Amino acid sequence: MDWVPSTERSRFASALSNQVVCVTGGAGFIGGHLVDALVALGARVTVIDDLSNSDAGHLSKVIDACPEQIRFVQGSILDPVALGAAVEGARVVFHLAAMGSVPRSVEDPARAWVVNATGTMRVLSAAHKAGAHRVVFSASSSAYGNNPELPKVESMGCEPESPYAASKVAGEGLCRAWSGSYGLDTVSLRYFNIFGPRQRAGSAYAAAIPAFLSAFADGRAPTVFGSGEQTRDFTHVNNAVFANLLAAVHEGDLGGEVLNVGAGQRTSVNELARILGEHSGRGDVGVVHAPERAGEVMHSVADIRAIEDRLGYRVVTGMEEGLGETAGWYLEHLSVTDGGEG
Ligand SMILES: NC(=O)c1ccc[n+]([C@@H]2O[C@H](COP(=O)([O-])OP(=O)(O)OC[C@H]3O[C@@H](n4cnc5c(N)ncnc54)[C@H](O)[C@@H]3O)[C@@H](O)[C@H]2O)c1
Repeated sequence: MDWVPSTERSRFASALSNQVVCVTGGAGFIGGHLVDALVALGARVTVIDDLSNSDAGHLSKVIDACPEQIRFVQGSILDPVALGAAVEGARVVFHLAAMGSVPRSVEDPARAWVVNATGTMRVLSAAHKAGAHRVVFSASSSAYGNNPELPKVESMGCEPESPYAASKVAGEGLCRAWSGSYGLDTVSLRYFNIFGPRQRAGSAYAAAIPAFLSAFADGRAPTVFGSGEQTRDFTHVNNAVFANLLAAVHEGDLGGEVLNVGAGQRTSVNELARILGEHSGRGDVGVVHAPERAGEVMHSVADIRAIEDRLGYRVVTGMEEGLGETAGWYLEHLSVTDGGEG
């Protein structure tokens, strides 16, 4: 939590201390970092997660350290009983649970839809029924698709290229509808390629950074899909957590607004591989190229002016600093994080 600027730290603590909040997908990568921050700020956190893409390892450590502050409901957001128990008494619901992989959604579009779209509708209904004040939804920059215009601004139209992207756009629409029709305040945070410690490495669906670091750690050349000239706005997870906290404590309605969460910097996948190779001390192994993956977009970078203006967001951990920290973490922990997707 050292990364939270002191100006915001006291504001977050006074708004969230002893406040009941719910984190769906709180055993996952971003959810786990959000849970850490919420617990450090004194919130009373309920996590619901079915562990379909995570394990309870990190959460168990948080529960052991602060048992009175955290409650874990192991179950699906699609199960009304488990979901009802999870959102009970929550003032803010952070909705992160999702089937989060583009390639997996191409293989199993029905599952992506039911978890990401139907699941979001159920979370909104349950939050409204429980009297929550706000739902903060984890949306995705994949909504912009292959629209060539850069940087991506929220006013641009959505052009989802994959079932995952389409299901996330549906989630944004549902959030806006629940604000419009039921008075439940909502906001959709469109994340751009979030990375950091504890993101899963090892499966065919792993996000690039853990997959590259895992390969370098084994002395293997990492696989780059396509030419590697595709660009992304690689954003350290602290920035995503910061955006969630800013959204949670915002005074006044957000009314279903959509806001980008990125670092505002464009880096190619080849350049990323080079930087991580250097951090790993294995720049010598190079990369191997594989065919481009279906549903993936060519270029992406966030315009972050809207979230800066609306919530006071700024980049709290820059890309270079974040990559260094993340590489260090993986080199130390890789053997225990292998085996999931990012
Ligand atoms: N990581 C990124 O770069 C990125 C980018 C854009 C959007 N997002 C979104 O942010 C959120 C978190 O992503 P992440 O990278 O931490 O992914 P993650 O897979 O690590 O976390 C998602 C969690 O949701 C859980 N989950 C899945 N289906 C569930 C269900 N039916 N019921 C309960 N829990 C369920 C999984 O077990 C996992 O713990 C997701 O909504 C994802 O779509 C992530």
